[in-house]
Amino acid sequence: MQPGRSWVGDDSAAVADEAARQFVDAAREAIALRGRFVVALAGGSTPKALYERLARPPLCEGVEWRRVEVLFGDERSVPPNHPDSNYGMARRALLDQVPLDAKKIHRIEGEHADADHRYAQVMHRVFSDGAPVFDLILLGMGPDGHTASLFPHTAALRERHLWVVKSRVDKLHTDRFTLTVPVLNAARAVIIVACGAEKAPALRAIAAHPDEGEVHPVLLVQPHPGTLTWLLDRAAAGQ
Ligand code: 6PG
Repeated sequence: MQPGRSWVGDDSAAVADEAARQFVDAAREAIALRGRFVVALAGGSTPKALYERLARPPLCEGVEWRRVEVLFGDERSVPPNHPDSNYGMARRALLDQVPLDAKKIHRIEGEHADADHRYAQVMHRVFSDGAPVFDLILLGMGPDGHTASLFPHTAALRERHLWVVKSRVDKLHTDRFTLTVPVLNAARAVIIVACGAEKAPALRAIAAHPDEGEVHPVLLVQPHPGTLTWLLDRAAAGQ
């Protein structure tokens, strides 16, 4: 596995609890130091459980939500009310439940073919002082080792200039929109959550072949000088 810290919890509930606690700590630190917390949310089931925890007391009371700027790491080619929308999931689980400033919630407009260009403009406005440096990027990992919408053997993995791209994912017969590797690696902190036995083979493979980022794109996530934290449950970590 690439350099970083890893933490193993008993089950997916423990991972969601730990991720939610780390989110609150990162938010407090960023707001204390820089007056705002800029976070990119992930799609998927483990992130959903962590959003639900963040939305409830006591954790929801630990964040100054009006100072939080919410973006997304990736999105499917669907409108926001579609059941597959990452934004829609995050809205129901978290964004509608806490006192965020609606102007500071920036979704990827997956219903538009040029959502990648539109989102780059949004990012230019959010990071008005230059290249994007997120305070925290939350990521999941698919059983094939994809993260955000960086899928194995796709051109998106090799993008080094653009901040966000549209990526054809042949095996899903669809386009996805995703932040690129340089943006992920410029973050102050990245947390990857992975739970369940179906993630164990990919985790074993990435530990054994840490140079195979084309095969397991999650290996390309190597923030510098930021930090990388893996939060796993026992089933994913292989007991
Ligand atoms: C998406 C993602 C993706 C996800 C992983 C893990 O839109 O699907 O952002 O990278 O985080 O596939 O998803 P699960 O937690 O559901 O396994």
